[in-house]
Amino acid sequence: MRVLASAPAKIILFGEHSVVYGKPAIAAAINLRTYVEAELRRDDRIRIEAHDIKVPGLTVSFSENEIYFESDYGKAAEVLSYVRQAIELAMEEAGVRKGINVSITSQIPVGAGLGSSAAVAVATIGAVSKLLGLELTREEVAKLGHKVELLVQGASSGIDPTVSAIGGFLYYEKGNFEHLPFMELPIVVGYTGSSGSTKELVAMVRRRYESMPELIVPILNAMGKLVKKAKEVITSELDEEEKFAKLGELMNINHGLLDALGVSTKKLSELVYAARTAGALGAKITGAGGGGCMYALAPGKQREVATAITIAGGTPMITEISREGLRIEEVIK
Ligand code: PMV
Repeated sequence: MRVLASAPAKIILFGEHSVVYGKPAIAAAINLRTYVEAELRRDDRIRIEAHDIKVPGLTVSFSENEIYFESDYGKAAEVLSYVRQAIELAMEEAGVRKGINVSITSQIPVGAGLGSSAAVAVATIGAVSKLLGLELTREEVAKLGHKVELLVQGASSGIDPTVSAIGGFLYYEKGNFEHLPFMELPIVVGYTGSSGSTKELVAMVRRRYESMPELIVPILNAMGKLVKKAKEVITSELDEEEKFAKLGELMNINHGLLDALGVSTKKLSELVYAARTAGALGAKITGAGGGGCMYALAPGKQREVATAITIAGGTPMITEISREGLRIEEVIK
């Protein structure tokens, strides 16, 4: 038997960094997916193959305590710890141990702040659990995905695996998630080509917060209010055009506040301004900053904005919000 499952990347639409201080954030799944195919083997080995994870390919196999790396390419190895942990948890959940082949292909760049690790964990849990005869709900997969992150990286809010498993828009506040109504958002994600360290950026903001609370607290409070306003817009009865205009304005303010916190870079801001000049209604950092990605809201202008991002030295990805999270694509008996 063989199962093919897929799970989407995520972007933080509003509220990165301020979310660390108990403010809300809005995140959404986007139409860039990781595909995981799982099949049963005749022996008890587990073999993981990564064909295209936006870093060169790699094959690893392990059984018991032996691990065989057939080749090793930096960041790809990190992805594999998520896959391995996801397989372990799915097997634990099913209460069986079997030999399986897991094969991964992905459209999500690794280390860009788009949740590639969570997507691979969610798709792996989805494929392996189904292969082992378990029918997990998306919420259950999200919880297991969060567990994978906690085991591999030690700390995690759970935003990434939750968005990836459930899909659509999620409003997150103090550990609780609320599904917001779906709306189409024509966006362009721009990748700077480098990645910032989320841990270091969060620590840098914390130092500023501690040394100048009188300046930083009002910025974080403004961010919190801005996210609530964005939620009001998304859930309002306004027509699409008005919603886009208001959300674009809020994105621009959010970018300015993130810049004030010190998490933007010259490259990120160049991509943001290039997108706005090319007609985006709004553009901002998405995720921790210090590199990674920005995104632009560009109804009717996605191609122009993508070209502007390329000219400014970034890698554009034209995409939309993905209504669906984890998807079982195919089951072959
Ligand atoms: O770049 P990402 O997707 O890891 O986002 C980090 C978001 C922060 O708010 C900066 C940190 C956090 O844990 O919420």
